[in-house]
Amino acid sequence: MVVIGVLGITACTPPKQKITYPPTDLSRAALIPKPLKVVPTHSAFGLDSKTMIYATPTDKGFEQVGQFLAEKIRSRLALDIPVNTTPAADIERIIYIHQTDSLPDDSPEAYQLYIKNDSILLNAKTAAGAFRGIQTLRQLIPEQSNDTLAPQPMWLIPSGKINDAPNFEYRGAMLDVARHFFTVEEVKKYIDILAYYKYNTFHMHLTDDQGWRLEIKSWPKLTEVGAQTEVGGGPGGFYTQEEFKELVAYAAERHMQIIPEVDMPGHTNAACFSYPILNGTGKQVKNYTGTRVGFSTFATRKDTVYAFLDDVIREITALSPGPFFHIGGDESHVTKKQNYIYFVEKVEEIVQRHGKRMIGWNEIAQANIDSSTVAQLWNEPHNALKAAAKGSKVILSPAKKAYLDMQYDSLSKHGLHWAAYIPVDDAYNWDPETYVEGLPRKSILGLEAPLWSETISNSAELEYLAFPRAIGYAELGWTPSEQRDWEDYKGRLAQQLAYLERLNVNFYRTKLVDWEGQ
Ligand code: ACM
Repeated sequence: MVVIGVLGITACTPPKQKITYPPTDLSRAALIPKPLKVVPTHSAFGLDSKTMIYATPTDKGFEQVGQFLAEKIRSRLALDIPVNTTPAADIERIIYIHQTDSLPDDSPEAYQLYIKNDSILLNAKTAAGAFRGIQTLRQLIPEQSNDTLAPQPMWLIPSGKINDAPNFEYRGAMLDVARHFFTVEEVKKYIDILAYYKYNTFHMHLTDDQGWRLEIKSWPKLTEVGAQTEVGGGPGGFYTQEEFKELVAYAAERHMQIIPEVDMPGHTNAACFSYPILNGTGKQVKNYTGTRVGFSTFATRKDTVYAFLDDVIREITALSPGPFFHIGGDESHVTKKQNYIYFVEKVEEIVQRHGKRMIGWNEIAQANIDSSTVAQLWNEPHNALKAAAKGSKVILSPAKKAYLDMQYDSLSKHGLHWAAYIPVDDAYNWDPETYVEGLPRKSILGLEAPLWSETISNSAELEYLAFPRAIGYAELGWTPSEQRDWEDYKGRLAQQLAYLERLNVNFYRTKLVDWEGQ
């Protein structure tokens, strides 16, 4: 048994390590999002080849969380940690991922971590809660092993107790794969990083004027024709239904739901170009590779449009097990108001008939939406209030604060600035709970950071805009405002450097953060 004491560790810390605090002080660990409660006990658990993982075997989800942790440890530290298998004789420490219904917080994503010298106990009610706890544990594993304490490499995880639960039940990021197409591998990489920061929702903006990105078997021209374009005239692309299912499964392994969006009745040029019968502008439809908005519309009084949408929504809902279907509904500038309202109410019926809850951008509050429908605020607080008054929940994505495609400043290489420049501190320094004056806390489902892709077309460009701001939005969604503080956060953010570099993330190295001095 290796005995770990504070004195031993500080004495053995090699002088070149850039650690400015005792590595055994759990309260100083660079966790993002910041947990609700951390109580350090100033010792450490030694993660090494003599560690095993045991996960409540009666719950398959818990065992999968254990396997997920083992895989991350294997790929990062080259340690092969057994999960729920008969331990070898020399196992000395255990990480126990334990299902229990007795936790102080009601959230299904709540968890507790008890880190001691020889054991780590992770308590959670659900596999989702266990998964969130595992992310905390991953963030506690230091970059360097301490090779002087034991004959084999050992990674010291600071001891203590963490009690944690999310402030908001919905913590999302959106990617626009319509203006530019992103491959399955590019999307997976983004999802994987978001999961590390405890996001639970990935919203895919699958269709727009410039492209239709998901195979619909009953309407094949949507991809044969409508997927072949993108902004700037590139080749476009689309996901087969099998590929989309693969993304849904990949997200589900990370306890994230995928929300598919078909934007309508505006933003529909690609669909109308594929099937001109859907077009309601009265003009001939051409393919479109520019970046204007608001010029297209479905023919909202034609039965064919609703028959089409019934097929599309049926096929997509069969691929996505989550409770939501997003109908867009923004910027339908050439749809008459009464037609817009008629359309939203008809589509809500179709979505509900297929067993899903509707989400739409804030404009949908003009219609008589059902209280189960969710409005996503992007530019009109009055419509968010209107939705809440109808009993609907609201997702906060104010463009001025939460749009990841807004430039950091006038020198930013990618992005736009029609809503604002959003430097990394501004992205963090606002409160979703008070952003819309008069919006009750109980009406707020959560927070989402959309990334529109007019100016980006690959992972490197995506990452430049998304990171590090998306890391801050993770904290805004999880950690209550009383516990958020920019000065404290920016120190923890600087310490994400090693993770971001390890994953080759092309993040924006804002000068507001001392990346090298951590
Ligand atoms: C939007 O930015 N048009 C939702």
